[in-house]
Amino acid sequence: MQNFDELKNQIAQDFASAQDLEALSALRIEYLGKKGQIASLMKQMKSVPKEEKPAFGQAVNDLKTEASALFEEKKQALEQKALEARLASEKIDLTLPGRKPAYANLNPLHLVLQELEDLFIGLGYQVIEGDELVEDLYCFERANIPKDHPARAMQDSLYIDPEHLLRTHTTAIQMKVLEEQAPNPIKVVCPGKVYRRDDDDATHSHQFMQIEGLVIGEHVPLSDLKGTLEFVARKMFGQNREIRFRPSYFPFTEPSVEVDVSCHMCGGKGCPTCKGTGWIEILGAGEVHPKVLKMAGYDSTKMNGFAFGIGIERIAMLKYGIDDIRHFYTNDQRFNKNFDRFD
Ligand code: DAH
Repeated sequence: MQNFDELKNQIAQDFASAQDLEALSALRIEYLGKKGQIASLMKQMKSVPKEEKPAFGQAVNDLKTEASALFEEKKQALEQKALEARLASEKIDLTLPGRKPAYANLNPLHLVLQELEDLFIGLGYQVIEGDELVEDLYCFERANIPKDHPARAMQDSLYIDPEHLLRTHTTAIQMKVLEEQAPNPIKVVCPGKVYRRDDDDATHSHQFMQIEGLVIGEHVPLSDLKGTLEFVARKMFGQNREIRFRPSYFPFTEPSVEVDVSCHMCGGKGCPTCKGTGWIEILGAGEVHPKVLKMAGYDSTKMNGFAFGIGIERIAMLKYGIDDIRHFYTNDQRFNKNFDRFD
């Protein structure tokens, strides 16, 4: 009877020394494969004497079974080793400090706008935004600026056709709101972008932002306007700010005023920021003109009110000490980062 102990020892030794699954697989083919050593032993069966055939076959089969078992055992051991290696290499160290995500910044114009909206909402105002492309009717006619009025020249804009243009002021929203709400009371602020044919320089841009205010009721005193604007100026620029009204002219208000706030840099003594006057102009305002009320559908003998228009850029420049309006629009992160909400 054939003794396969030597071959069996050889197989056991080879399997044992296989370093990885690839090497083991090669050994499996060599010993257990279709053309492997054990298969070729089977083929030798033909030349084995008849009476020895059963014992020979049994021995080869036993060898095959044992080799297969050794292979499985080693395979499992190598798989376990590979898994452990992978787990070790992919281990996450939870004690490492996290990576801080890079947050985008809100443009300072939006910060100022949000602050203003919050203040007005706190005073009971509703926020209404309108279309940027408006009819001449709401931008000018209803604001008491007829076709031949010289006030149009200052606000010449981008016309789409003779009757439609990009709004030159948020007063266009005011006129629409008046028409929609007549004859009821109103208390709204209307923020948004406006456009003018303008040369761009340090303090002018062909596109900028305003926030319009409008209050209509049965007896709305002008002192309410003053109280409201004083409250807003103090919230934006500090508790010690004073405001003053100067007579002015706007076609849609009568009387009209320009509103100054005492300089937050020098407290009113006079400095470069306020050009030595102690005061800084921040907005235009007035009593809504009776003609404007009538055109929108109000009985101007029963209802009255006030309106104001604030330039957002101007407020942001004063509040943050920004010297060039163009910084707002270039989107330079070195600039925007100064107004990070998250630091
Ligand atoms: N619309 C004016 C402008 O763009 C600003 C303004 C002034 C708005 C007086 C008003 C107001 O509502 O009453 O220059």
